[in-house]
Amino acid sequence: MLTITTSKKAMLEQSADCLAFFVEKDFSFSKELQSVAHAFFPDLKSLMEEREFTGDAKSVLVVPVSGNKHVKSLIFVGMGKKDADKYKTLEFYRRAVGTLVRSADRIHVKQVAVELPGVKRFGIDAQELTKETVLTAQLAAYYFDDFHTDKKQHHPACFELIVVGDDTKALNAGVKEAEIIAQATNMARHWIDSPPSVVTPPHLADEAKKIAKKYDLTFTIFNEKQIVEMGMGGLAGVSRGSDRDCQFVIMEYDCGKKTAPTIALVGKGITFDSGGLSIKPAQNMETMKEDMSGAAAVIATMQAIAQLKPKVNVVALTPISENLPSGKATMPGDILRFYNGKTAEVKNTDAEGRLILADALSYAVKHYKPDAIIDIATLTGSCAHALGPFYTGLMSQHPDLAKRVEQAGERSGDRIWPLPFSDDYKPAIKSTVADICNIGSSTYRAGAITAGFFLQNFVDDVPWVHLDIAGTASDVPDLPYYRPASATGVGVRLFVDLLMNWK
Ligand code: BES
Ligand code: ZN
Ligand code: ZN
Repeated sequence: MLTITTSKKAMLEQSADCLAFFVEKDFSFSKELQSVAHAFFPDLKSLMEEREFTGDAKSVLVVPVSGNKHVKSLIFVGMGKKDADKYKTLEFYRRAVGTLVRSADRIHVKQVAVELPGVKRFGIDAQELTKETVLTAQLAAYYFDDFHTDKKQHHPACFELIVVGDDTKALNAGVKEAEIIAQATNMARHWIDSPPSVVTPPHLADEAKKIAKKYDLTFTIFNEKQIVEMGMGGLAGVSRGSDRDCQFVIMEYDCGKKTAPTIALVGKGITFDSGGLSIKPAQNMETMKEDMSGAAAVIATMQAIAQLKPKVNVVALTPISENLPSGKATMPGDILRFYNGKTAEVKNTDAEGRLILADALSYAVKHYKPDAIIDIATLTGSCAHALGPFYTGLMSQHPDLAKRVEQAGERSGDRIWPLPFSDDYKPAIKSTVADICNIGSSTYRAGAITAGFFLQNFVDDVPWVHLDIAGTASDVPDLPYYRPASATGVGVRLFVDLLMNWK
């Protein structure tokens, strides 16, 4: 993580070894830029022209300077053109912040003083803009090198970022918020990136427990024996092939107001998905440590909101298990009975996410009677294929709740796209031997949507949104604030925004 400070002093009075500026596409050489040139690099204008630096999105210019007591380099980062859509403008700014961190990292700076661009351009206030700047910088600074013995192999971003602006109060408030959200998001990413023999079901449950204790959240946990006794046949059925105990973890945040709405967050926690007896081809299995990204997002969100204190009650429910083949494993053809009494035929043991979520959703409905349920899961390759890495799939028959979630997605950067969720797809999961089948009939294709309809059997009439993050949880290309082949922490920024703005 970066060390963050704020400062009111003018850029030219900063004693950092690097000064950074954000510029728009086709910027003019303003008085301010002229004074920067005057102080550090008289030929700045012609250099920019020579290097064809126009302020385009993704463009960056690093200028070494000499003869100054403190400053050794200047970094200019392009923000691109202002878009009519303010959230698009903001997203381009996030990418510019990511680019700045990457560039500063590459030249091994100790401090970067960066001037916040004018808030007018973004249509948000100074606190929000500071929050976005610092949060994005911290996301960009994340790296996973627990297992690199040669630490030089990776040069982690670890400089001091000095955020320069006039409104000290707004700046400090923005930094505080950002640090909480960034820490939570990067914690989720660290769990997801860790090997599956490290982040096992008991390990992840233990991490949740530590958070609950530290931040004073109500914590409940059930082990495999209790899960079997409670009649959670989905979770127990998936875990049967594994030697490690499955876990069902519940964390509760109480906002202190009984009349406040209760929101349930349910996250898929498969710490490794081999497919079970319907085993995956080797290539598809390579990344399956990420199959607990939903649970990671939900647990990390609880850590953030325990500190940010939104005015809603929040319950996080995470079923956690491995999905492995063995002589004891659930077999295709087996029928499982869930916590709400319904049964499902398991035709494919690789469609395991919906089986563990079924129990968690049923439990949420029965014990918390929530005003809304949102589940988040790396559920289907189908969704990843449909939408790719930049948009999380949303399925819902509750337009008001769906709209809230979509708007939180726009604001937070965890962007969301709705898939059609019409009853026409419902018959796809019919079974001849049980209430439903765990895979959709091939006639209906649309695997992401038919998976959504499987889950619908477990939410009664509670307003519900299903989020499929199979495409967005890990290995998102081209966004400079993420890293290749690494987790994104998708869902944490989204949920924090959603819960903080719940009215
Ligand atoms: N965990 C996978 C889905 C997944 C795929 C997540 C790619 C992240 C990246 C899930 O459990 C799964 O295997 N789903 C199957 C369902 C099928 C058997 C109906 C799939 O999508 O192929
Ligand atoms: Zn699977
Ligand atoms: Zn899975």
